[in-house]
Amino acid sequence: MDQFPRLSSDHDSGTLPVTVGQIADFAHDPVVCMRRLWARHGNIAALEEDGQRLYFIFGPEYNKQVLSDSERFHSRFFALRGSKRSAQRRVSSGLLSMNGDEHKRHRRIAMGPFAKKAIGSYHNTVTQLSSEMLDTWQPDEVRDINQDMTEYMLRLTSSILFGLDEPELAHEIGVKTERWVALNHEIGPAAFIPNADLTERYEELLESAEELEKPIKEMLRLRRAGSSGRDVLSLLIQAHDGEGGISDEQLIGHIALLFGAAHLTSAHSLTWTLFLLSQHPEVMDELHQELTAHTDGSSPRPEQLDDLVVLDRVLKESMRVLPASAYVQRVTSQPVELGPFQLPQGSVVVFSQFMTHHLPELYDEPETFRPDRWQTINPSPYAYLPFGAGPRMCIGAALGMMQLKVTLPTILGRFKLSLEEGAEVNARVMSTMLFPTSRVPMHVAPQDGNFTAPTITGNIHTLVNLPPASTVTRHAA
Ligand code: HEM
Repeated sequence: MDQFPRLSSDHDSGTLPVTVGQIADFAHDPVVCMRRLWARHGNIAALEEDGQRLYFIFGPEYNKQVLSDSERFHSRFFALRGSKRSAQRRVSSGLLSMNGDEHKRHRRIAMGPFAKKAIGSYHNTVTQLSSEMLDTWQPDEVRDINQDMTEYMLRLTSSILFGLDEPELAHEIGVKTERWVALNHEIGPAAFIPNADLTERYEELLESAEELEKPIKEMLRLRRAGSSGRDVLSLLIQAHDGEGGISDEQLIGHIALLFGAAHLTSAHSLTWTLFLLSQHPEVMDELHQELTAHTDGSSPRPEQLDDLVVLDRVLKESMRVLPASAYVQRVTSQPVELGPFQLPQGSVVVFSQFMTHHLPELYDEPETFRPDRWQTINPSPYAYLPFGAGPRMCIGAALGMMQLKVTLPTILGRFKLSLEEGAEVNARVMSTMLFPTSRVPMHVAPQDGNFTAPTITGNIHTLVNLPPASTVTRHAA
């Protein structure tokens, strides 16, 4: 466990907000660990084991200090980078592994395909692929919405990043990225915690990176050889600044990261929103009325999106209560004073969207899904940060929101989704993301505007307060 700088032998934790315990507890269950630290110490704390510390910040003040200062608080998303010439080093070298001037330059060049004015060009792909997904659904069947949203976002992300003309190769990159990201999550803790099983699996990670790199290289070759399209990769290949463009080696890292960053965050945001709606029939009813009035059950057109104010509130609230990205970490590039702590260089600081979004001083009844609250609150970017904040805020935030704002109405215009009575819904934060770890079984019916929320079980009740079973009926059967 020598990832963290060692404290001097005469250090004194007595007066500081420090809990002496096991750092492995954090990897095991981040939410439980962070809740305990916050309950005991407040908005800044450290977990100390064997002379090493992991630091945690929970409120907007500390979030601002850390997230706005990218010089002193560096990003280090991938714990295991591989040797210099390895495929693991190349595929893990996208924006989240860059810092300083290199990060600024690459972010500026890579921004083009994600700028607001570029987003409209992906709208048709979202309506097309969401409609194609729904064409395969049958009324009266029970579907695992978690699996559906994961597969749908795999197709959508690969189409937006690579275009529609090489669907099999794009899909292969998606599947291999998903496996590689999962392995990084599973084996990454080996960088912090001594564990023989994880260390042995390091070889598996290196092989997975090699397997992922092959189709990425092939896609790059095809895009460089052929005519360029409007997909993100084509735009990145053409992107230039005064110092030149992005090399193929750098593009490999950008592609793997873009896929990894976009796919499951978007899929889980969709799943959690459909889940929360299905447990809150009055909210579902209000949203249904808005969609019927504005889009009459069709996919919203780009110019209609700003008018869908209930949809906007529902998504904001869903990403507040169950944020797909639950925490992220920074590493100090030099000694820094943070609250009562003097942090040596190399200290790891965790900030948590989940914890900040559940602070009672910021949000009334924080564990309750209440989209209406957004009519009266306007939290700062460091108090509400589903996409992060500051110079490293998610580059795909506008694209991500557009995907959610088009996909949800398309689904809800065609089908009514109700969780199965008694379903067990479980969730877990793994590495940084809030995953559904069970099926999310929903009954599919033609949309009729009558909504019922059944009673469900599972550990999801430890993350959000769900109301008792209820029904909203507007139309006679
Ligand atoms: C609902 C969906 C999404 C969520 C919740 C989300 C969340 C986040 C968060 C919290 C960060 C900040 C990480 C940090 O502070 O270190 C981030 C960064 C990033 N995201 Fe997203 N994201 C989503 C969708 C997307 C999409 C669609 C793309 C691109 C296709 C994308 C690409 C990126 C990239 C490249 C970064 C790194 C930015 C940098 O370091 O400069 N994300 N995302």
